[in-house]
Formats: sequence, structure tokens, C-alpha cells
Amino acid sequence: MTQSNRILVTGATSGIGFAVASALLAEGRSVVAVGRHFEKVHELSARYPGRVEMLHAALEDSGDARFVVQRALKTGPLHGFVSAAGFAHHELMGAISERSFREQFEVNTFAPMRIGEELVAKLEVGSAMVFLTSTLAHRPVPTSYVYSATKAALLSAVKSLALAGAPRMVRVNAVSPGVVDTPMARAPRPGESGEEVIAARMTALGKLHALGRVGAATEVADAVLYLLSAPWTTGSELVVDGGLLLA
Ligand SMILES: NC(=O)c1ccc[n+]([C@@H]2O[C@H](COP(=O)([O-])OP(=O)(O)OC[C@H]3O[C@@H](n4cnc5c(N)ncnc54)[C@H](OP(=O)(O)O)[C@@H]3O)[C@@H](O)[C@H]2O)c1
Repeated sequence: MTQSNRILVTGATSGIGFAVASALLAEGRSVVAVGRHFEKVHELSARYPGRVEMLHAALEDSGDARFVVQRALKTGPLHGFVSAAGFAHHELMGAISERSFREQFEVNTFAPMRIGEELVAKLEVGSAMVFLTSTLAHRPVPTSYVYSATKAALLSAVKSLALAGAPRMVRVNAVSPGVVDTPMARAPRPGESGEEVIAARMTALGKLHALGRVGAATEVADAVLYLLSAPWTTGSELVVDGGLLLA
């Protein structure tokens, strides 16, 4: 594997993380893809031989999350980190299980915080981290009680990590997307069934954005790649939401 420009990407197996991994590879960089379901990553590996590593980790398991960095560093130095793994359980208050509460915080907040904490000291000097947060951290909906809180906490952690990384010129930023057309956004909500119902919801969600549509994963990946190489930006949040927070 190429030893320069090697980027660790959680959630690289789907949606935004996959778009980030694809864009990094197209730029000539190498990717350590973290996830559980690697079907799509195998395609990338075939297209970019020798530049894709696959690292299996179940991030709801704190033990697995703790070893991600150690395992990735065994095969070479890291020059960047993108935290895209995440999920939302849309549930109404009063009906949220203990397991759902804990899993969303483990995957969306604790795992990225643990990985980020370790990488502050272990990324190559001058590297960068980008964390996927969400506009739902600022403007929740009735079913996003836990998810919104996980992302708001992560936004705070990004600022602490940015301070901690600054002496080694490690920059740390967040990208907060609006609704993006990925498997996560298309996952059935409570009471939904059938592709047509979901397609109608996506169209309705699009209309909530000032620009009149939901985003594409590649449009968010562009913002992530910008922040990975922005030399004088740290501790910031780039909102990429088609004007959702304006509308
Ligand atoms: N789509 C949106 O509208 C939207 C909006 C704002 C923010 N975001 C954020 O953007 C990020 C990417 O979301 P997406 O829309 O691209 O979702 P997605 O297509 O569903 O992809 C989610 C990724 O997270 C990984 N993941 C989920 N649970 C995991 C676990 N327990 N252990 C390890 N990996 C896990 C999945 O990997 P495996 O399946 O291989 O485990 C997958 O690669 C997330 O942090 C999400 O919160 C999304």
C-alpha cells in the first residue's frame, strides 16, 4: 500500500463515507475503510489495487472502537481521518429503548470521540480530521431526540479535539449535512412500508430545503475533501444543507 496520504474512513462501506473513500482514491490517496459490510468496498479495491485496506469494526462495541487506530497503524502511518459511521433510530419520545439510546451514542458519539482522542497524538503532523455531524443537531425533529443529541455532543467534541490537535498542526472540523440521499435517509421510519412511501417522503423532505431538493453523497464528500486540506481552518462546522437551516 502507498505510504503517503493514507486516510482512515469509518462508514466507508455506504453512503457519504463511501463517496468520501471513492473521491480520495480518485485523487490518488489510499484508504483504510472501516465498517462491517464490505461488498461495495471490494469494488473499490478492484478498481484501485493496493490502495484500499478493509478493517472490520462494530463501533457499537467499545472494545472494537478502541482498537481501530492501533490496528490501522500496524500497516502504516495515517495522514487523515474521516468519521462517517453513524445511524439514526427515528423514534418518538417515550418509546425509546435503552439499547437504542446506548447504541446511537456508542456509534455516533463515543466511538468517534475515542478514535479522535487517540489520533490527536498519532496522526502525522499537519494531518486533518473531519467528523460528519448533522443539521439535526441544531434543529431536531420529534423522532430525532437521541440522534440529534449524539450529533450535538460530537460537535462539541470537535472543538475540544481541534484545541488538542493544534500544537501538532492537526486540524479538526465538522461537516453538517441536511438530508442526503443515502441508505440511512431511505431507511423506513416508524409506520412506513414500501418504496413508494419512502420516495414520497424523500421528495417532501427535499422541499424543506431552500434549494428544493435533498443532497447527493458526492456533494457532501466534496466538503469533506475541502476540509481535509484546508490549512487554516480548525474547530469549525461546515453546513452543507441546500439551505435547510434557512428555510
Ligand atoms: N444521510 C443523511 O441524510 C445524513 C444527514 C446528516 C448527517 N448524516 C451523517 O452522515 C454519516 C453517513 O451517513 P449515511 O447517510 O452515509 O449513512 P449510510 O449510508 O447508512 O452509511 C452509514 C455507515 O455507517 C456505518 N455504521 C453504521 N453503524 C455501524 C456500526 N455499529 N459499526 C460500524 N459501522 C457502522 C455503516 O457501515 P456498515 O454497514 O458496513 O457497518 C455505513 O458505512 C453518518 O454519521 C450520518 O449520521 C447523514
